[in-house]
Amino acid sequence: KGNYLYTVIVLGASGDLAKKKTFPALFGLYKNKYLNPKTHIVGYARTKMDQATFEDHVTKYIKLKSEDDKAALKDFLKLCSYQDGQYDKDSDFQRLEQRLVQVEKESGATERLFYMALPPSVFIKVATCLKHNNYSKEIITRLIVEKPFGMDLESSRKLAKELGALFSEEEIYRIDHYLGKEMVKNMMILRFANVIFGSIWNRQSIDNVQITFKEKIGTQGRGGYFDEFGIIRDVMQNHLLQILTLVAMEPPVSLNSEDVRDEKVKVLRFIPPITREDILLGQYGKSEDGKEPGYLDDATVPKGSKTPTYAAATLFINNERWAGVPFVLKCGKALDQQKTEIRIQFKNVACGIFKSLSRNEIVIRVQPDEAVYVKMMNKEPGLGMKTIISDLDLSYSSRFNDSVIPEAYEALILDALNGDHSNFVRNDELDAAWKIFTPILKKIDQGEINPIPYAYGTRGPKGLTEFVAKHGYTRGEQEYVWPQHSAA
Ligand code: BG6
Repeated sequence: KGNYLYTVIVLGASGDLAKKKTFPALFGLYKNKYLNPKTHIVGYARTKMDQATFEDHVTKYIKLKSEDDKAALKDFLKLCSYQDGQYDKDSDFQRLEQRLVQVEKESGATERLFYMALPPSVFIKVATCLKHNNYSKEIITRLIVEKPFGMDLESSRKLAKELGALFSEEEIYRIDHYLGKEMVKNMMILRFANVIFGSIWNRQSIDNVQITFKEKIGTQGRGGYFDEFGIIRDVMQNHLLQILTLVAMEPPVSLNSEDVRDEKVKVLRFIPPITREDILLGQYGKSEDGKEPGYLDDATVPKGSKTPTYAAATLFINNERWAGVPFVLKCGKALDQQKTEIRIQFKNVACGIFKSLSRNEIVIRVQPDEAVYVKMMNKEPGLGMKTIISDLDLSYSSRFNDSVIPEAYEALILDALNGDHSNFVRNDELDAAWKIFTPILKKIDQGEINPIPYAYGTRGPKGLTEFVAKHGYTRGEQEYVWPQHSAA
């Protein structure tokens, strides 16, 4: 805990990501004594800011829950300083270097963590300047980088090559913040530390897998940015695919990061590119009451854009364990609810002695309200032999009510500080992921697929029920509502 001595440099410190995620996560680590109290945090960006303005920016999204938190924040801010500079000027990075040398003299730090909270257009420029001006073999250097990692296989490879010429794979930490989420990290334990789950985790028992990401909000001001990418690049190709690999991969030899990542790459390589038949796209319009704007009403979105804000895609993994089992990934903005979950649906029971059965399901609710629950058939209490659908429910709020679930970014920054790569995306993994999505993305980019409109605040585009049913998902005959929440 907090024994390493490093300097954290946040590039793009005046931006949204730094304000919303990076600084609050660094404060969370500091508050819980995971950061060495001598650590210095140096912000760097183009905007000119004095210390007071910078501190406002750093604290904007930090939630203080107690007097202790307030005191901790005061001390935390003493560790933070800011320097403005251009993203492509060596002289500015030399000034940054002088600052770093100075703070390292005070702290004795011999490690540097560069957090690249930057737009893609300046990414390589900054990496180049860092390599030329702020890099030395005596100092352990780590670089956290954020998506987008390119737009397709080709641009991702170009980026990887350019970055690879500057920093080694060992030094690079590609963030996918879903890998820092508690329930995503729980996946390996659920699968590989439980005989009851481990032994049924295959095509003999499982009919289909649904991985769902829903957000209630639309693009809200990010429309211009979002439009270049669309929901597949924004969420599916990274967050949902990462979840899929953890659900589907073979057990790694150990928890060592390369062992884990070897297995993840392997399972991705068994997935052929998504076909036109296996994709359903949507784009949200105005809400039914007309109060919420449609995607195309956003002034920053190009007129007539066909960019999908909703996508459902079915992936198949052609290996011994999974051949024939559809993995349906679904994600969308401006929907009826906010949640991310993994739903493993089992096959029908062969036995015909009971009527009106529903399939077993294991549901891992990533957010909100972390939970694992198993839907199962039970005898309805009382006389007779009627079946009733019920559940085994591990809801974190009731079972682990004293535990604090760390923010994904806290978990990941700490991993990077400790030099642990297991929850970061390796270069070949990224390559394998792009191979699956690039052909269909090309079709979408060329305007070959028209997204189906859906109203803001609804379940998604028409045809969704048929789409998931075509890929095996069956709603049970009995009505079921998870007591904690309404049904999916
Ligand atoms: C980001 C996407 O990667 O993930 C956003 O760019 C999305 O569009 C976000 O809203 C969701 O993250 P979380 O942690 O809020 O579920």
